[in-house]
Amino acid sequence: MKKLQESMYKEGMYKAPVYIAIFIDKRVCFLEGSEFDYLEFIWSVDSVAMAIQNLMLKAVELGLGTVYIGVTNFRGIAEEVRKLAGLYENYYLVGVIPIGYPRREQKPRGRRRMLGEITRFI
Ligand SMILES: Cc1cc2nc3c(=O)[nH]c(=O)nc-3n(C[C@H](O)[C@H](O)[C@H](O)COP(=O)(O)O)c2cc1C
Repeated sequence: MKKLQESMYKEGMYKAPVYIAIFIDKRVCFLEGSEFDYLEFIWSVDSVAMAIQNLMLKAVELGLGTVYIGVTNFRGIAEEVRKLAGLYENYYLVGVIPIGYPRREQKPRGRRRMLGEITRFI
């Protein structure tokens, strides 16, 4: 874990010049009524996850490197990030995306598992 932290974080994302933190404003909802709160939350995360993916794909197209950082959601860290961004408690942090120039050209990795192993076609 220590070795991973050194190589991934200290030599990697800590050097990124830009961090984009993506939040949900929990007050914005489509369906009225507290019975929909959970569904609204899930939908918001779904929407933001798609936006994050678009952002990451565009960054790659521009020759930039990104990585999705979810550990910032741990209690304590998320509050710090929210305060840094100057946002109120109704904002929920979904993720932080460091963006920078990759040290070397990234090649697609081989599949860890074949599509058929993780997908069930009906
Ligand atoms: C929702 C989500 C949260 C993640 N959070 C972290 C994180 O906090 N730290 C980290 O090192 N990788 C995190 N990752 C993994 C990296 O973003 C990336 O997927 C991983 O390095 C594997 O890359 P690869 O799929 O190209 O092999 C997260 C991925 C996802 C989808």
